[in-house]
Amino acid sequence: MRNLEILTEEDKETLDLPRTTVDEVGKQNKKKLYIESYGCQMNFSDSEIVTSILQENGYATTSLFDEADVILLNTCAIRDNAEQKVRNRLKNFTHLKKKRPSLVVGVLGCMAERLKTKFLEEEKIVDVVAGPDSYRDLPNLFEEVEEGNKAINVFLSKEETYADISPVRLNSNGVTAFVSIMRGCDNMCSFCVVPFTRGRERSRDVYSILKECQDLLDNGYKEVTLLGQNVDSYKWASADGTETVNFAQLLERVALINPLLRVRFSTSHPKDITDEVLYTIKKYENVCNYIHLPAQSGSSRILKLMNRTYDRDWYINRVDKIREVLGEECGISQDIIAGFCTETEEDHQDTLSLIEYVRYDYGYMFAYSERPGTPAAKKLVDDISDDEKQRRLAEIIALQRKISQERNEMSVGTIQKVLIEGDSKRSADFLQGRNDQNKMVILPKGNHQKGDYVNVKITSCSSATLFGEVE
Ligand code: 5AD
Ligand code: SF4
Repeated sequence: MRNLEILTEEDKETLDLPRTTVDEVGKQNKKKLYIESYGCQMNFSDSEIVTSILQENGYATTSLFDEADVILLNTCAIRDNAEQKVRNRLKNFTHLKKKRPSLVVGVLGCMAERLKTKFLEEEKIVDVVAGPDSYRDLPNLFEEVEEGNKAINVFLSKEETYADISPVRLNSNGVTAFVSIMRGCDNMCSFCVVPFTRGRERSRDVYSILKECQDLLDNGYKEVTLLGQNVDSYKWASADGTETVNFAQLLERVALINPLLRVRFSTSHPKDITDEVLYTIKKYENVCNYIHLPAQSGSSRILKLMNRTYDRDWYINRVDKIREVLGEECGISQDIIAGFCTETEEDHQDTLSLIEYVRYDYGYMFAYSERPGTPAAKKLVDDISDDEKQRRLAEIIALQRKISQERNEMSVGTIQKVLIEGDSKRSADFLQGRNDQNKMVILPKGNHQKGDYVNVKITSCSSATLFGEVE
């Protein structure tokens, strides 16, 4: 899953993520909810589920936190800096709470699940702590607070997928939407807190996914991104066991809804991505030619310590297969961690050479941050200094940026099919959209509307963006 908390505001604009606040939805005289999301796309998607549950229970939403009756922060625990960001944000609400003691402040998501009652002890302003599987309980938790108590539910479920909840599309551009297909993760990568905060992996009912995608199309949406920590392990069976669906089959069924509905997905795990998925991408024009394939490291020794269950050769073999089936132009992006426990200069060079080999279109790169309770924190020593981590990270980012620029230059002069998502953030005279490989393309407005597919001739590029004109 791509993690967004380290991105700059500029990066976020390029990715066109949902903003952290919500538009006004609902009527007067209702209690007002303000929700902010941190971290990965799954959290942004969960906030849409939370909003739906609370709207059903009589709440309206507001984008102004100082007029809210309930403030919720949907938190991320993946790295220490993500947690610090939430703690700092909570400080901003202290004066409000003093002015209006009836204000309810709740924390949701991974940090809530990780810290549990500690959150209530450490952050006095917090009234409600709710983990990722307890969102249906929020109205009850708020009632407990009204009765003068603090409220917490961090129960992790083996079944909850919120399949029946119709997400409220927060600050949506009306063209692209996230659809959650599974929850949790069973992989136990040694550095990662997610299996502890989001619990066991479970797949959502295929029919509820298809219905959500169809509803989106009926409401004018043109693109869905199927979300899961590890989409390739999607596995659903009907109650009587007569029907089973794997990820490639799900992808096919979503693609068949309508050729005008573009389909993306994230995240693929290199150990699980199958040839069947690659052939499905190839078979359907509306399944995007783009794969987010986190490597984490280019060193087999480090990959073993990370418990990624593949080595460098396996990863390279998967990339070769992607290139064989989908061609050079298939977009590939990475997640990489710099300075994991015991990482030597040689291991670091292996990571750089993997980036050179794959020639990723872009990536999300992080310095290793030890997370309490994870296998790495228990068994390994976080022995690379912060300065060294930052040096290695800077080298990784610089190399990726150079390759991103070169990959983008390959597109100059080509015609790209772009789905327009709205006005460019920089100028109202321009529109922005994305091509098949998930790259942001900027084009002059002309008479085009958001939601249109247009063929754009690429005329120039930066390392993050393509610029062009409609053919
Ligand atoms: N430190 C740094 N990066 C991490 N990630 C996950 N856990 C950590 C950690 N402890 C990164 C991985 C993952 C992405 C979502 O976040 O690269 O793929
Ligand atoms: Fe974390 Fe690994 Fe699961 Fe991704 S696959 S969420 S990195 S444990």
